[in-house]
Parts: sequence; C-alpha cells; structure tokens
Amino acid sequence: MQKILVTGGLGYIGSHTVVELQNTGFEVVIIDDLSNSSKEVLSRITSITGIKPDFEEIDLKNKQAVEQFFKNYSIDGVIHFAASKAVGESVNEPLKYYENNITTLTYVLKEMIANQVPNFIFSSSCTVYGQADELPITENAPTKPAESPYGATKKMGEIIIEDTTKVTALKAIALRYFNPIGAHETAKIGELPLGVPQNLVPFVVQTAAGIRECLSVFGDDYNTPDGTAVRDYIHVVDLAKAHIIALNRLLKNKNKAKCEFFNIGTGKGSSVLDVINAFEKATNKKVNYKIVDRRAGDVTSAYADTSLANNELGWKAELGLEEALASSWKWQESLK
Ligand code: UD1
Repeated sequence: MQKILVTGGLGYIGSHTVVELQNTGFEVVIIDDLSNSSKEVLSRITSITGIKPDFEEIDLKNKQAVEQFFKNYSIDGVIHFAASKAVGESVNEPLKYYENNITTLTYVLKEMIANQVPNFIFSSSCTVYGQADELPITENAPTKPAESPYGATKKMGEIIIEDTTKVTALKAIALRYFNPIGAHETAKIGELPLGVPQNLVPFVVQTAAGIRECLSVFGDDYNTPDGTAVRDYIHVVDLAKAHIIALNRLLKNKNKAKCEFFNIGTGKGSSVLDVINAFEKATNKKVNYKIVDRRAGDVTSAYADTSLANNELGWKAELGLEEALASSWKWQESLK
C-alpha cells in the first residue's frame, strides 16, 4: 500500500481528500496543527471510511519536527493543503501568511528531496489569474499581480515549486481551484468557518439557518448578465477526487512535465444571485439578502476552461451547483 502525507488533512478540502484517498486504497498520514481545524475530524473521517488515518499534530513552521517526521515515515507522495486562507486577514497580517504558507512549503519540499519523495500535489487557486482578460480561463492565461498576501503566497508557491522541480527529482502538480463549496454526502465532514464567514456559501447557509440576519450581496453593477459577480463553484468532493487522479499521474510517471498546472472547476459561471436562487430551489429555504457596495479586491467574473483537466487528467466535475448547495445545507443542519 502506498502511503500519502496529507498536510492540513483535517481541514475542509484536506479531510474530503483523505476520505477519497482511503476509498481508493491509499494509506494516509495527516499532519495538521489544529490552528483552523479540530481533532474531532479524525473520528469523522474514520466513521466514513472505517479506517483511522495516522495523525501527527505538527506545526510545519517547526523545521526540526518536519525533519523528524520524514525520518519516521516512509512516504510515497505529499498532498499539501496546510496554509492560512483568509484573504482579509492576510492583508493585515502579511508576515503570518508568508511564514505559514511559504516558509512551511520550503521545509516540506526540502525534506521531500532529502528523503527521495518525488511526488507533490499543491493547492493553488484561480486567484493567480486575477481578472483574466478572456473567459473561460485557460491555464495559459497570464497570472496577474496578487490582490492580497494570501494570493501572493499561491503565486509564489507555484514559482517555488516549479523552480525546485527544474533542479531536483521533484515532480509536482499544482491544482488551481476555483470556488470550492459543499460537503460530504454523509454530512460528517464539511467546512467549519470560524466566526463570521467571509465566503459566499457559508454565509448563505448561515443566513438560511437564522444564524446571520441578512446576506450582503457585494455589488449588482458588474458587467455580468444580472449585475452580480460570477464564479465557478466546484463541489469539494469532485475537487477531492481531482487530487487522487493527479497523484496517480505522478506515481505512475504519466506527467508530461516536471511541474504541471490544472484548473479545477466546473467550467460553468454562476452569479451571486444564481447561487441564492439555486440554494432556495435545492433546499426550499429562503435567503434574506440585500444589495450593498462592491467588496474591495473582487473580480467581476472567473470561471474555468477545464479542457486540460478533462483531457489530460481524465477528470471532470460530476456534481452540480444545486447538489453542492444541498450538501452544504445538510452539513449546516448536522451542526445543530
Ligand atoms: C475568495 C478569495 C480567493 C480564495 C477563495 C477561497 C477574495 C478576493 N478571493 O474567492 O482568493 O481562493 O475565496 O477561499 O477574497 N459575496 C457576497 N457576499 C458575501 C460573500 C461573498 O456577495 O457575503 C460574493 C463575492 O463578492 C464574490 C462571490 O460572492 O463575488 C464569491 O465570494 P467568495 O466566496 O468570498 O469567494 P471569492 O471572493 O471568489
């Protein structure tokens, strides 16, 4: 059995990926510092798959602990989720983001190379494209200056990884996620936002649940069909599956370059109002909302051209917006 290290494996996307890895027959060891996750997720994963993954509570900023981990475990590949991800916070605390997302990445890569672990999957983001000049966005679209330190860490992360693959045995795939939403069908794992959610779907769900009074729709004067901003919302389970496919590509040496980049989205753009309507249709719950000013740093429209992932990886999103929103609602209900 091949053993995969999943950093940030108790987080939102990480936990769903651990489940898919186990379902596909991989052995998993999770590193998580519990800074934005809970140990409870470990038993949730176990109750879904029937297999308890190994778990090491390690802060990846602790270089010695990372070194020791790679001495203790024989690993075949790494899926690296561990990172801070709040865009607004990153503007106020840039060094936290550079340390948490960049310093730790260099430690992990260094130990992978020292211990001959060549297979690396990186959580990147469509944020690297900024407002793309052409839609849908292909992987060849130029990257744009980052709007935030968070965005900068994703861009820099890709550069660090690609540079490293040029001069070492490291092979890597960076998956550029569009907007991950939804939860596992069992409602045993999902997104656990701390405090007031910044992302749209957690806010929609909490508004429907009566936790938030009213959703603010940030701007209705965008150059889009209904005036609200357009994104590509991808079900987290589809997204998780893309990681397993990408990992297998590296493990089987099917990759066509030392470092590859793939968009992971549905290819379909949905406006904020589309999301609200789809949510109401999928759940029969009303979402109280008002239109307010645009949010600083938001782009008008971003959705993926997924041809490369479809053709090269043989991966395609299977679940639609309503299914994803229904699963987010089921997850919210389970938190009561
Ligand atoms: C944000 C980040 C992105 C990150 C992604 C995943 C920014 C600028 N970008 O993407 O880098 O990778 O999250 O965490 O923050 N909206 C509302 N009301 C709300 C919340 C959101 O109208 O209360 C709108 C936004 O204006 C946007 C859409 O909903 O048009 C999606 O927003 P959000 O879920 O925050 O994701 P992004 O901003 O696309």
